Amino acid sequence: MTAPGPAPARGYGLEVLPVGGWAATVASRLCHRLMERPGLRVCLPTGDTPTPVYAELVARERRGEVSLAHATVVQLDEWAGLPPGDPARCDARLRRELIDRLAAPPVFVSIDADGPDDEAAALAHDSAARGLDLAVLGLGMNGHVGFNEPGSHPDDPTRLVRLAVSSREAATSRYGADSTPTAGITVGLARLLEAEECWLLVTGERKAQVLRRVLEQPEGLDCPASYLRRHPWLTVFADEPAASLLRKG
Ligand code: GLP
Repeated sequence: MTAPGPAPARGYGLEVLPVGGWAATVASRLCHRLMERPGLRVCLPTGDTPTPVYAELVARERRGEVSLAHATVVQLDEWAGLPPGDPARCDARLRRELIDRLAAPPVFVSIDADGPDDEAAALAHDSAARGLDLAVLGLGMNGHVGFNEPGSHPDDPTRLVRLAVSSREAATSRYGADSTPTAGITVGLARLLEAEECWLLVTGERKAQVLRRVLEQPEGLDCPASYLRRHPWLTVFADEPAASLLRKG
């Protein structure tokens, strides 16, 4: 496989925030975007990183400070082969932490991982993931975003992928899956780079090394998140421990 050509040099925004204020700040920005554009089409991740942001968002919605009623939430990724009741399912987690807790929920475009044809589900979701106003992403320890594992290209569409070993292990050890999935469906880097705006959420000291790889070394297939630097409007929201290995200034 040949590496994609060099990326145009573009800047990105980096916000380094104290651990205690990180989630509130990210939630505030999201509220702002929703107020500016009530019909926001936003792609949202699961995983542990965004959980406190969703809790903040729910609290603010309940206080009447923001509404997602006219927004559309597009699911970022899903394990293939986990049954609907599995605790690790991304759709269930997003519903549990955000969608179902809102008084006026948004339209939720989930990935149909329960049908007979995962390739067809991925193709359908590729259409749903076009024209995003905002793509919000977490960062995997191996540099993945969504399930765009190492080896992914910046022009990859939404597709069925083989999971990296670390992602398979995380399904059971971190997210409580009852069995180990070997594949997933993910919004592709092509759709993420096409979104009008892109946010990368990174917390915790354990992500410091990979965040440095993402931001300070040449982009490359070994670290798909590094391609996000091609995005014309990327903001990285890192807490202080996650940013601790970045060059100062
Ligand atoms: C997971 C998911 C990603 C997620 C990332 C980070 O495996 N596929 O969508 O953003 O890895 O997860 P966490 O926030 O739990 O560290």
